[in-house]
Amino acid sequence: MERENDPANNVPDAIFSKLGMQLHRRDNHPIGILKNAIYEYFDSNYSGKFVKFDDLSPIVSVKANFDDVLVPADHVSRSNNDTYYVDAQTVLRCHTSAHQAELLKTGHSHFLVTGDVYRRDSIDSTHYPVFHQMEGVRVFCSDEWVDSGLDGTSYAAMDLKKSLEGLAKKLFGDVEMRWIDTYFPFTNPSFELEIYFQEKWMEVLGCGVTEQEILERNGKIHSVAWAFGLGLERLAMVLFDIPDIRLFWSTDQRFTSQFSEGKLGIKFKPFSKYPPCYKDMSFWISDSFTENNLCEVVRGIAGDLVEEVRLIDNFTNKKGMTSHCYRIAYRSMERSLTDEEINQLQGDVREAVQSKLKVILR
Ligand code: DAH
Repeated sequence: MERENDPANNVPDAIFSKLGMQLHRRDNHPIGILKNAIYEYFDSNYSGKFVKFDDLSPIVSVKANFDDVLVPADHVSRSNNDTYYVDAQTVLRCHTSAHQAELLKTGHSHFLVTGDVYRRDSIDSTHYPVFHQMEGVRVFCSDEWVDSGLDGTSYAAMDLKKSLEGLAKKLFGDVEMRWIDTYFPFTNPSFELEIYFQEKWMEVLGCGVTEQEILERNGKIHSVAWAFGLGLERLAMVLFDIPDIRLFWSTDQRFTSQFSEGKLGIKFKPFSKYPPCYKDMSFWISDSFTENNLCEVVRGIAGDLVEEVRLIDNFTNKKGMTSHCYRIAYRSMERSLTDEEINQLQGDVREAVQSKLKVILR
């Protein structure tokens, strides 16, 4: 309660109300089904060695979310434009990597962490401020790689790639795969796994060999480790043919009942596609304007009735004033919206945007 009055707090009620929903713990929900399928893969390949955590609180310290996984002090992800702060020292975790350090420290060497994660972002059919990730970590001690002829890092990287290729194969079948070098603060080297699926390359997960500093700080000396993190919604959308990320939150029986078998292989049958309605809104922005803030205001008014918020025009006049025009798509997943309802929403959105964002409507 007190925290809500903290000046650093930027968590709206609509986001707070998602805490505790635990979609990933429902066996008949696509997110829970996917989690269970990944569990099965690790259980059968590592004879139950991976300890599973899916009930850790999403409210974590700034230290756990960022410092402990070596996210630089000036990294954009720390800004209050990207992350939800409960107070100056506490955030809604923006990734399940927030639990790596504490679990290593308590002695775990093989673990999977699944949970809801929170990010301020723009609005479209694949982005929602709450989604779910799974993190995996495996630690090796030196006698595991001495006989391999490889150094620890190469050994871990090789094992990582083999494990994750096996996982992708279990989920997607016999697909073409490729590894892309990338950067994460917590791993070196770092990779992304992509698969060729439905005629395009798709990113499946991020991973890498854990930075020694993380291991050493948490009592793992003479060790190497690998880690990965994957977004469950992204994968579930393609595996189950789910066209819009808002559907995961639907309580409509026509959605929920389709997953009652609790298995991979189910393809979602859209019950109906209701028509979208587009409304444009133009305004002069101020220096503090961000698209994430706009999206939060729109989501705060329209909730899950907003499908997309898209910048369609942007210019600066001779006086140096910048105008943005955004197109808002309203569409319910569950019913037709009336003109009156949409006009009311758009009116409320205009008012809220004007009063909260220091912009001048045109
Ligand atoms: N935390 C990363 C993210 O949210 C995902 C990730 C990448 C996790 C690499 C890892 C890792 O453990 O090694 O984008």
